[in-house]
Amino acid sequence: MDFTAEIEKLRREKNAVILAHYYTFPEVQEIADFVGDSLALSQKAAATDADIILFAGVHFMAETAKILNPDKKVLIPDLAAGCSLADSCNGDDLKKFLKNYPDHIVLSYINCSAKVKTLSDVIVTSGNALKIVNALPKEQKIVFAPDKNLGRYINDMTGRNMVLWDGVCFVHNAFTAVQVADAKKAHPTAEVIAHPECPATVLAFADFTGSTAAMLKHVAASNKKEFIVITENGILHELKKQNPDKQFWVINTAENCACSECSYMKLNTLEKIYLALKNEEPELILDTDTIEAARKPIVKMLEMSK
Ligand code: 13P
Ligand code: SF4
Repeated sequence: MDFTAEIEKLRREKNAVILAHYYTFPEVQEIADFVGDSLALSQKAAATDADIILFAGVHFMAETAKILNPDKKVLIPDLAAGCSLADSCNGDDLKKFLKNYPDHIVLSYINCSAKVKTLSDVIVTSGNALKIVNALPKEQKIVFAPDKNLGRYINDMTGRNMVLWDGVCFVHNAFTAVQVADAKKAHPTAEVIAHPECPATVLAFADFTGSTAAMLKHVAASNKKEFIVITENGILHELKKQNPDKQFWVINTAENCACSECSYMKLNTLEKIYLALKNEEPELILDTDTIEAARKPIVKMLEMSK
């Protein structure tokens, strides 16, 4: 079956929009109406007039789209597309943890469950975290969940002392300083670009640190010709597309292993997207109370990102 043609037909018939993250397979990014980082995808979800949103990303991204569009149908090609960061912070455990910090506000990375969002004051993404934290009063006490690497990076860049929840992304946390040092030795003129979900020892080597969209913007504007890319490998598709004259080196975190791939993002296939559009399932369902409570910190983020 020609899944691309069938998806095209269904998308028109049903007035559906397909949103995809840069970490999905190239063919998924190619059929999407919009590909972006977590911030741009949430902004796109907030603005769409489609009747159906099909989210080729992971569960928390589809949840965010649903929270912003409670009356629309949100489809996710595979309900098992979770996120190790979101899984590292259970809502009930966070609630208990927060009892120790009654005078702190809660800042949560968008890579968290809807339940965690209901406990948060403001959501951030890697694309707007520094801007949002810098806009908060200097004396404001903050708990940051769930990514300790991103939290530490924000603390370093802003001089804050946020209390950090102990969560990590299994893809980004697997990169090591030794691997980056070896890659630099092999490609001495290459610039190192890294995602802030990486450990501090890895970010210490980075010439540029930013979200997926920020990395793409940086490379497009750079006059360097070679880059060592320290994030999930799916970003290579857009990097190569936008910069055919530049060369990209990746780090596989173990031999014969695609460890720098997010197995959750890779659950999105053309066949599953076709089936989800055809059958209008799996559908992302959330109860009204959760939607109401989780929307507030997301709307705050969207306002503070302008
Ligand atoms: P960004 O695309 O917002 O940088 O996020 C990376 C990520 O890990 C998404 O899950
Ligand atoms: Fe979650 Fe990491 Fe996969 Fe992003 S790359 S979806 S943070 S597990």
